[in-house]
Amino acid sequence: MRIDILTVMPELLESPFKHSIMKRAIEKGLVDVHIHNIRDYSQDKHKKTDDYAFSGEAGMVMTIQPIDSLITKLKNERNYDTIIYTSPDGKRLDQKLANSLSTLENIMILCGHYKGIDQRIRDFLIDMEISIGDYVLSGGELAAAVISDSIIRLIPGVLSDETSALSDSFQDDLLAPPVYTRPAEYKGMKVPDILLSGNTKAIENWKLEQSLERTKRLRPDLLK
Ligand code: ADE
Repeated sequence: MRIDILTVMPELLESPFKHSIMKRAIEKGLVDVHIHNIRDYSQDKHKKTDDYAFSGEAGMVMTIQPIDSLITKLKNERNYDTIIYTSPDGKRLDQKLANSLSTLENIMILCGHYKGIDQRIRDFLIDMEISIGDYVLSGGELAAAVISDSIIRLIPGVLSDETSALSDSFQDDLLAPPVYTRPAEYKGMKVPDILLSGNTKAIENWKLEQSLERTKRLRPDLLK
């Protein structure tokens, strides 16, 4: 898979891809992440990427030219399965959407910023808008990192134990069961006996019961 991220704040995206699972996925060659600075494509003599809104609203609006130039350049190099714009107006990211995006070959993610972007970009250059939740971030970079992480960990071979992505919370509309590690007792706090029993079947049943109980208690909406 290849992910191209288009941003005016590339520095904000430096760290997430340099650690942990996303770093390993890149090193293993399972995903290729390219971060592009939209400013590099501005034809303005001051490399401006934003301007005042025609409607007179406060706040700057990202202009169409640099974004169009960059998207056109990338599209001339390869076919993109989808071009995503990060926005609180978009379709809410959930596990189902992450699963379906993880099967794609080439994804472009355009990060919004400032007050917004020229509507013509959304109307003519973008395929879908994704929100990571009902709140407003200062920019789309953190959302792009969240979307990328949720997708990349699902690519086969990225997680060393392939079943562990399948047992994530939400993968079957259930929250994951609790996990414990050594010591079996700490300051009087004990690991449930069943986990020390060695009875695999009983442990599997316990995990399912715990998942159901947690989901009912914490996220009853998932069971509907
Ligand atoms: N940009 C600003 N807020 C956002 C959100 N909640 N999701 C995605 N992109 C955003």
